[in-house]
Amino acid sequence: MKEITLSIFGFGNVGRATARVLLEKTGFFRKKYGLSFKVLSVADTSGLVWLPEGIDLREALLVKENFGRLSAWTNDYEVYNMKPGEAIEEVNPDIVVDVTNDANAFPWHLRAIRNGSALVTSNKPPLAFHYSELVGEAERRGIPYLFEATVMAGTPVIALLRENLLGDRVESIEAVLNATTTFILSRMEEGKTFEEALREAQSLGMAERDPSGDVLGIDAGYKATILHCVAFHPMTFGEAEVRGIDGITPELVREATSHGKTIRLVATVERGKVKVEPREIPLESPLAVSSNENVALIKTDLLGELLVKGAGAGPRETASGVVSDIVKAGLVLREA
Ligand code: HSE
Repeated sequence: MKEITLSIFGFGNVGRATARVLLEKTGFFRKKYGLSFKVLSVADTSGLVWLPEGIDLREALLVKENFGRLSAWTNDYEVYNMKPGEAIEEVNPDIVVDVTNDANAFPWHLRAIRNGSALVTSNKPPLAFHYSELVGEAERRGIPYLFEATVMAGTPVIALLRENLLGDRVESIEAVLNATTTFILSRMEEGKTFEEALREAQSLGMAERDPSGDVLGIDAGYKATILHCVAFHPMTFGEAEVRGIDGITPELVREATSHGKTIRLVATVERGKVKVEPREIPLESPLAVSSNENVALIKTDLLGELLVKGAGAGPRETASGVVSDIVKAGLVLREA
């Protein structure tokens, strides 16, 4: 049995869902992969709890759920006020798990890689702005840097492009990558108002903490930029052309429905080009997803058309991608 140590940064919806999956599947990971995971530290914005013997995740979940912050945890545990970069060097885990929405996480991702820790993340901005520095540094050092959950939650589109199709030339990707906007547009088709639909998406843990990032197309833009980096070559979000669904009125939704179409926020990714915009699409198109689904239609020279479709948001759905990457990094470390 190989014991792998983890530091989890972020204990919101995705962090807590990740912790629950790690607890639920302890036996499964031991039996199937010969891996056991010991969580050395957990942090939220209130502080970092660190215990070299391993944190009791059940207790961490109880504290967070009852008091809303990890710093309320007092018995047996020290609460530290360290910044992530400093904490990574002090705690020195095998794997750093970033499930925060820290838009300025780039420096501490780099610090984790330079510290020799593998990094697993669902946090998009570091990749959307600094893909080549981060992936380049990790590759030079032979450190796993994994980010499946940044795009399409646990639906494995990143691994597909990064680890498969290695002899194919990707020609284009057309995709619906933001579940909140799909959810809002579907609900508007049913006669709900924009605000009602947005509130419902927030209550399901689908929307970002600041949902304007979803509505304005920024979240989809980050994801499309990451897809471009993986499928073609590194670029940054600043080069993407992005328009959201803020201009979509109930009248426009009704008009689309009346001629057999639906409006979705569609990302088009081609070599050197990323565009996100609301588009009318035929109801029978594979891009006409609903609810929390995401879809990517990938065209390659050898395979032709490949459709990847599945959940694109939600705490457990995102934890699927995070935990898969934790296991993947664990398997690499097991062999090291
Ligand atoms: N807020 C995102 C969405 C989920 O609605 O798709 C996290 O990526």
